[in-house]
Amino acid sequence: MDAVPSSSLLARYDGNLPRYTSYPTAIRFSEAVGSAEASCWLEEIPAGEALSLYVHVPFCDELCGFCGCNTSVVRSESARTSYGDLLEDELHRVTKLIPVPAQGRPPISHLQFGGGTPTTLPEAVFRKLFAQLHAAFDLLPHTEVSIELDPRHFEPQMAHLLAELGFNRASLGVQDIEPRVQQACGRIQSFEQTEACVVAVREAGIASVNIDLIYGLPYQTAESVQVTALRTASLRPDRIAVFGYAHVPWKAKRQQMMPEQALPDRDARIAQRAMIDATLREAGYVPVGLDHYALPHNSMAASVREGTLKRNFQGYTTDAARYLVGIGASAISSLPGGFTQNIVNVAAYREALEKNTGLPVARGVACSADDRVRGALIERLMCDLAVDLGVFGPDDYAAEKERLLQFAQDGLVVFDGERVSVTEAGRPFIRNIAAVFDRYLPKAGAGPKQHSQAI
Ligand SMILES: C[S@@+](CC[C@H](N)C(=O)[O-])C[C@H]1O[C@@H](n2cnc3c(N)ncnc32)[C@H](O)[C@@H]1O
Ligand code: SF4
Repeated sequence: MDAVPSSSLLARYDGNLPRYTSYPTAIRFSEAVGSAEASCWLEEIPAGEALSLYVHVPFCDELCGFCGCNTSVVRSESARTSYGDLLEDELHRVTKLIPVPAQGRPPISHLQFGGGTPTTLPEAVFRKLFAQLHAAFDLLPHTEVSIELDPRHFEPQMAHLLAELGFNRASLGVQDIEPRVQQACGRIQSFEQTEACVVAVREAGIASVNIDLIYGLPYQTAESVQVTALRTASLRPDRIAVFGYAHVPWKAKRQQMMPEQALPDRDARIAQRAMIDATLREAGYVPVGLDHYALPHNSMAASVREGTLKRNFQGYTTDAARYLVGIGASAISSLPGGFTQNIVNVAAYREALEKNTGLPVARGVACSADDRVRGALIERLMCDLAVDLGVFGPDDYAAEKERLLQFAQDGLVVFDGERVSVTEAGRPFIRNIAAVFDRYLPKAGAGPKQHSQAI
């Protein structure tokens, strides 16, 4: 179990930090990188290299007060269908740029639909998109094909459609099962709805299930999150993601409706985290990185054992692909030259596609050689909780090693020669430890708030 850190330790490492789903992080993205760079970088992908493809759908059936994602409720079937047309159009443009191997089509090793709630797309859109995907790409036999679901709005026939299309993993939002917490968050979801959704996807043949939980929500206590963790574990999802509530009302305007006076303070948050950690370990789950748990037989637990876990914009993943191509409004791509992000606003994304023949890219960042080394180092720290600086050029990190001495004194890291390992006590502080290697992070207090609470 994560021991509960003392108040003084928490105070020392308090602050707002990136989640390090990329390095450089999204705050470095600028309009200096746009459609032209994205096109060149897609053309630089080596022919035949297995890719990861992400499809973003920014629609939901209902909005939740805590949600930090840029989503909206779109009820009209024709509007949902017409977004499908935009995805097809973008996919077509992207496909034309990716080099084709001498034999066959570019391979895909990982395909993810995320949002929002991608099941808001009509069946006909799914079918057309998959026909286009199969015509353009070679979906490898072990490709993980995953999708995010909202159990409050999920019918068994959707599970059958997804299984038929080849989805083999489903990720369900739960967050918390306590009625008072759900009320405060504007997300009412009975345990029976969650259970019915798990049963429906499994019966349809979608073998792997993930459930998302959140701690740090209004009215949560260590005791209440224990109940949520126990009941969630009773459904035996293969993976459980446990996110700390990111309260960023300056960015996610809908969070301004959240009852701030009922938010747990820093000490209560960390106690909740520790309680969920103990409960899930006791229930047989293996901790993965900062915020995931997996059953020992699951591929994510195996990737922890083998040191092959990866981290990308969707969080922890077993996806080994070097390049990620994102399509849809706000989708982020990780390409040979750097990162790009599509236009976030759906109307503006549509306008860009209708107005010109380029890619609907809003911003991005080119990666320098130093960015790549630091990015790889931070990824290993976030995934393995250890990094061998000897591999990354130890002489270049003298200042960082010095800053880590404080972490070592606090029992959060240990040194073994050039190897830095995060202790179990240090696990909740991985973002702080990774931040030591982030050369772009503004000094504490400098500039506007951009990130969520680190712990
Ligand atoms: C993009 S949502 C998709 C899930 C699906 N739409 C649903 O709600 O059931 C993925 C997950 O992000 C997490 N999430 C959203 N807003 C968050 C926030 N402010 N802080 C922490 N986690 C958040 C929730 O756990 C949510 O299940
Ligand atoms: S948590 Fe899921 S359903 Fe709720 S607003 Fe966010 S994406 Fe939509």
